[in-house]
Amino acid sequence: MQNKTLGIIGGTGMLGRAIARSLLERSVVSADRLLISNRSGAGTFGPQVRVLADNQQLVDLSDIVVLSIRPEQFRELTIHARGKTVVSLMAGVPASLICEATGADRVVRAMPNAAVQIRQSYTPWFSAGALDEHDRQFVQQMFECVGTADEVPNEDCIDYLSALSGTGPAFPALLYKALVSQAILAGIPEAIAHRAAHGVVVGGGQLLADNDPLQMLDTLEAYRGVTAAALQSMTDQHIESIIGNAVKQGADLARKGL
Ligand SMILES: NC(=O)c1ccc[n+]([C@@H]2O[C@H](COP(=O)([O-])OP(=O)(O)OC[C@H]3O[C@@H](n4cnc5c(N)ncnc54)[C@H](OP(=O)(O)O)[C@@H]3O)[C@@H](O)[C@H]2O)c1
Repeated sequence: MQNKTLGIIGGTGMLGRAIARSLLERSVVSADRLLISNRSGAGTFGPQVRVLADNQQLVDLSDIVVLSIRPEQFRELTIHARGKTVVSLMAGVPASLICEATGADRVVRAMPNAAVQIRQSYTPWFSAGALDEHDRQFVQQMFECVGTADEVPNEDCIDYLSALSGTGPAFPALLYKALVSQAILAGIPEAIAHRAAHGVVVGGGQLLADNDPLQMLDTLEAYRGVTAAALQSMTDQHIESIIGNAVKQGADLARKGL
């Protein structure tokens, strides 16, 4: 990011730290143009990255400010960010509230997930103010450092996707739990049940990285074997509406505000 300084409030947390590290490793931001803050000012990112305990100092020195704190911590945050672009990673905090509380000219809401740690996050983002082309490219590039990213057409997409892609490993982990507990109930030894479920959730997931999941389903259903019978049972029990209702519950909470 030529001649611009990026500040990450909460940059020592799980999400902020992973993004900061990737930006440095990919040379998208140089160390002398990256600032981090938290409440203690403690944390290390290498010799040239300053870690501050004063959020306002970070804002004053930055062109773009990322808010990577939790929604409940935002209530305690006092910053004046007039003239700045603020990129919020917080779930369930609307852009209008961030604008009002910080005075920022432009607020972007983005929703990465925990896979930032392995650079496999999908990050939708939405700009509530007019971004210049340079900032737009920077936001896209920042999230591409930790996976893939798309600008979405409206803020409601962010609230909906908070409960979909924002959940990261949650849905596969719940599937894992169900597979293990049901296998144990069916008499499979516990250690075997865990390894079998791992093969499905982790091994199967990796196979989908290079194969179209929908084509894969078509092929498996056409085979009319054991897998097809299991899939048909889930379809008959309305798996799609179970998932739709689950995502809607989460999205409704994000829309209501945290
Ligand atoms: N984790 C996920 O999978 C995920 C997914 C999507 C979106 N998000 C969103 O991302 C945000 C960050 O999540 P996270 O998991 O990275 O949280 P986290 O690990 O708890 O990190 C929060 C960071 O904020 C700092 N902090 C708290 N209050 C502060 C304040 N007043 N001033 C400056 N720094 C402050 C904390 O450091 P100190 O305690 O040292 O101050 C910590 O470094 C959340 O809003 C969440 O909704 C998270």
